[in-house]
Amino acid sequence: MISQMLLDARRYEEEAGGRIADRERPGFHLCARTGWMNDPNGFCFFGGRYHMFYQYYPYRSTWDSMHWGHAASSDLLHWEYLPAALAPDRFYDQDGVFSGSAIGLDDGRMLLMYTGVLLEGGNSRPKNELQTQCLAVGDGINFEKWPGNPVLDRNSLPAGASVHDFRDPKMFRLPDGGFACIAASRSEDTSGQILLYTSPDGFSWKYETVLASCRNRFGKMWECPDFFPLDGKQVLLVSPQDMLPQDLEYHSGNGTLCLIGSYDEEHFDFREEHNQAIDYGIDFYAPQTVLTPDGRRVMIGWMQNWDACAIREPEAAWAGQMSLPRELHIRDGRLYQAPIREFNLLRKNPVRFANVAVGSERMYLSGIEGRMIDMEISVRPKDPSSSYTKFVIRFAEEGEQYTSVRFRPHESTLKIDRKFSGSRRAILHQRRCLVEDAREELRLRIILDRFSCEVFIDGGRKVMTSTLYTDQSAKKISFEADGEVLMDITKYDIVP
Ligand code: FRU
Repeated sequence: MISQMLLDARRYEEEAGGRIADRERPGFHLCARTGWMNDPNGFCFFGGRYHMFYQYYPYRSTWDSMHWGHAASSDLLHWEYLPAALAPDRFYDQDGVFSGSAIGLDDGRMLLMYTGVLLEGGNSRPKNELQTQCLAVGDGINFEKWPGNPVLDRNSLPAGASVHDFRDPKMFRLPDGGFACIAASRSEDTSGQILLYTSPDGFSWKYETVLASCRNRFGKMWECPDFFPLDGKQVLLVSPQDMLPQDLEYHSGNGTLCLIGSYDEEHFDFREEHNQAIDYGIDFYAPQTVLTPDGRRVMIGWMQNWDACAIREPEAAWAGQMSLPRELHIRDGRLYQAPIREFNLLRKNPVRFANVAVGSERMYLSGIEGRMIDMEISVRPKDPSSSYTKFVIRFAEEGEQYTSVRFRPHESTLKIDRKFSGSRRAILHQRRCLVEDAREELRLRIILDRFSCEVFIDGGRKVMTSTLYTDQSAKKISFEADGEVLMDITKYDIVP
């Protein structure tokens, strides 16, 4: 039975979503059908298509009582909106259906596991969220909440774990055909830990172990875990809250963390060997991955982050976009990301320049402009024995407005800066990351959509993602350097 609350949301989103013109949405990124979107949820391949659910409040473009929105795609690039999948319509999830995952069952149904939120103590203070894990099962469009909900609650927690911070279950299949899920939890030491559960059928779950612990090293509570094998290693992705900065690797606030290590499947024993940020830009959080039918691990993140949400005006018809789908690999012990290869099929009308001398005058190249484009750029000092101190690309530029990417070889830093992008809010607009070994050659791939830029550095060794809401008439792109550099550039229009 579909609840009135979900029917209302479905009716509303169809009407309100239909009022948003295509040109007011990103050209090739998924955004909220209407209203608010945060984390990707239930990212899976099911019935021949990819499904993406998302944290959703259809009625306004600010976070509120969480629903699950839904879209599907056959290529991860063209998305079709489907009716909202879940509403907070049961007593145990009446204050929000929070993040979770989806998996195909052997009988052909789709199983969702999500966090149900119930505010303890009603309207009295202090309010505390009781977070439990719940199931819904269905045909990929309509879902019935499981009568046995919640399936994981306070009785499923190890000693000292908080009942208030227990969320974001991510399910996966075990080699023996069984099911496992990991969930984020707050431990006694007040920081995050990842719990692991198993189930023979996806419905009855048993606590196994603590898979990984923050121990106050990387922020406090960890959110939205994902866990998968990749290129002979095992990867744990989490999104920590309340981080402190560490050099230019981690910044304060909500961040992203990738732990790479080894995994003994039989004993659920994960040994961490390497840690790094997932994305070094401003707007990226809570990524989820899917395994494609041809065996690629593809990640999509929420292309926004909590502390900088005010970049979007509250009266906007939609808020929240997903990143490009990114293929993941491990090279030299690090996580590498590249836009999925199918994205290259959208690249049209190449414009190429080789060995262009860039100097202290802002330079514009004919045919190099636009807001839905992909650019591959390589930069080197003109005279290999000399050097340069700065190289800047400005894009989405018109008059006083632009967003820039700036490389300083002496510091080995790349900075993304949207201070002049038209934002009127006093929020974070800049971020830097370290780019080692780029003095001789800096390699960038910059993908712009109407409201975002994703900068893949050095073949995807690092990525910086940022949203920008500059008027679409700002299309120019300019180049500038202190000291002479030579640049090769290929620019494509993206024609979705
Ligand atoms: C992460 C998060 C999740 C939670 C959801 C609520 O962005 O805080 O931990 O499930 O958002 O919308």
